[in-house]
Amino acid sequence: MTEELTPQQELENIKNNLANIVHDTKNPLAVIAQNANILLRYTQLNEDKKVHYLQAIQRNADFLLNLVEDLDFQRLKSGQLQLQFAPLDVVDLTRQVVNNLNSLAEQKSLGLTFDTSDQTLIINGDKNHLTRAINNLVNNAIKYTADGQVRVILSRRRHKAFLYISDTGMGLSEEQLGKLFERFYRADSARHIPGTGLGLAITKEIIKLHQGEIKVTSTVGKGSTFTVCLPLAMESQSEF
Ligand SMILES: Nc1ncnc2c1ncn2[C@@H]1O[C@H](COP(=O)(O)OP(=O)(O)OP(=O)(O)O)[C@@H](O)[C@H]1O
Ligand SMILES: [Mg+2]
Repeated sequence: MTEELTPQQELENIKNNLANIVHDTKNPLAVIAQNANILLRYTQLNEDKKVHYLQAIQRNADFLLNLVEDLDFQRLKSGQLQLQFAPLDVVDLTRQVVNNLNSLAEQKSLGLTFDTSDQTLIINGDKNHLTRAINNLVNNAIKYTADGQVRVILSRRRHKAFLYISDTGMGLSEEQLGKLFERFYRADSARHIPGTGLGLAITKEIIKLHQGEIKVTSTVGKGSTFTVCLPLAMESQSEF
């Protein structure tokens, strides 16, 4: 497997990507500063205008927050970041993630659907981290799809929950698939779209910490399907 890098390789990787990260932070910071400036200077702006500038501040601050959390990955990997496991309904959690991303899909005129075989599927999980993992997968599906649809499906097979995220997007070649879960990896075809290439590495680590698995199948120009499998709570209890 290519994903286990030595500390030296890891450092080299971070150094090489630092320029990109700095670049990614500059633009949102500039937008936040400019908009705050406008709001402070022009106190007579009408409500609609104020909301417009405040929303841009919020959007860009969220982006930066996400980036900083991604960079926290090292702590997750080294075990310094402890997950808080508790019984968790993965149906409810996935529905919330999909609902939160509805407007993003709408902006791109993409269909976004969620279907589930069961009303509830309880796993033993860390709500914040699992939300983060599923959010990255659905967000990627929307981000790397120009037109068509994103389908999110949950189903139960034996003692496992299976989550499928399919898109009709740009897809990935065999070679690209081999590197997909490496930190900082971004396919050439995605370079015009902002991102750090950390999302899937983090997602994989989070799924692993839940005793789960993640797989992907893809066809260039046709789309991709990411499959996440998570053990259900009862099964975990009888196994451990
Ligand atoms: N659904 C998808 N369809 C096509 N390519 C994808 C898809 N999901 C991920 N990729 C490719 O995998 C790369 C890595 O994805 P990953 O989520 O790790 O990082 P990112 O989306 O570039 O940035 P971020 O760290 O903000 O998530 C992407 O840059 C893109 O090239
Ligand atoms: Mg991503």
